[in-house]
Amino acid sequence: MMAPAVRIVEVGPRDGLQNIRDTIPTSTKLELIQRLHQTGLQTIELTSVVSPKAIPQLADCREVLSNTDTKALLDDSQLRLPVLVPNVKGLEIAKQHGVREIAVFISATEGFSKANINCTVAQAIERSTQLASLAKASHIAVRGYVSCIFADPFDGPTPLPAVLRCVRALLDAGCYEVSLGDTLGTGSPANVRELISYLISNDIPVDKLAGHFHDTYGQAVANVWEAFNNGIRVFDSSVAGLGGCPFAPGAKGNVASEDLVYMFHNAGISTGVDLSKLVETGHWVCKKLGKSNSSRAGTALATK
Ligand code: HMG
Ligand code: MG
Repeated sequence: MMAPAVRIVEVGPRDGLQNIRDTIPTSTKLELIQRLHQTGLQTIELTSVVSPKAIPQLADCREVLSNTDTKALLDDSQLRLPVLVPNVKGLEIAKQHGVREIAVFISATEGFSKANINCTVAQAIERSTQLASLAKASHIAVRGYVSCIFADPFDGPTPLPAVLRCVRALLDAGCYEVSLGDTLGTGSPANVRELISYLISNDIPVDKLAGHFHDTYGQAVANVWEAFNNGIRVFDSSVAGLGGCPFAPGAKGNVASEDLVYMFHNAGISTGVDLSKLVETGHWVCKKLGKSNSSRAGTALATK
């Protein structure tokens, strides 16, 4: 089978759920992961191993990771199943559960760094460099995130060199790819073009970059398309457009996976994902969570 032209990193079980206040039963999270896998998605961020005080919703990460069905997926070497970790404690727990890939995360900006992970950008770079080196010594792959690529909830607009510094540091640390996070969802295609051109002109290989767009201003699908046209081939998204971060007040969910798949397939660009199964999963999870579905394609296709 040919590799899909675009790789989708489904972040629903992590980013999608982390900011939901009502406790979601672990069984729902487990079924969500299995349903997402059945759509053909090959990369699914399973959960995070972070302070339960920071993110109470994902305090059941050990149950998620030790479940028999999750274990079966973790044993499948064809899949990428990153788990978000902020520190050595998180890495150790992930390792004990047979996790083969972690995601480390830093912010390009001081305000969000302090609020989200209680340290400065320089300290976060140092921590993630140490984490990446420990992970790699245990043959665990490392993905990186840089948050607040366009703006910070406390500091305002983000200067381009601040993003470059973080992307470079994560690649130097050994991340196989760095996802550019518009945490607040304020960016639009002109910002996307400017940032990618700037990174490329500073010798960052575009095939090491991914896009992670939140949809606060309704720009996320357009941002993905612009990033695609500027060479990016990996995109993070969340089924039903779930998502958000408690430390980025007011930010909306991730771009909906259904909307991306619809857009790419209509352009003849393969994703390896079965759109109708994805749409079904979006409606299933929204019903379980008692939330409305933020995917426009998902909503339109379900009423057909
Ligand atoms: P801290 O308070 O400075 O650190 O938090 P600490 O080491 O003093 O730990 C505090 C407590 O958490 C302790 O427990 C630790 O044991 C526990 P206590 O003694 O008070 O009972 N703890 C842990 N428990 C489980 N797993 C761990 C862990 N580490 C500590 N790994 C810390 C610093 C980084 C731990 C905290 O701030 C934290 O966990 N932050 C994570 C916040 C988070 O997950 N945010 C959302 C994800 S990022 C995001 O959404 C953006 C992204 O989507 C991209 C984008 O959109 O831009 C990725
Ligand atoms: Mg996010």
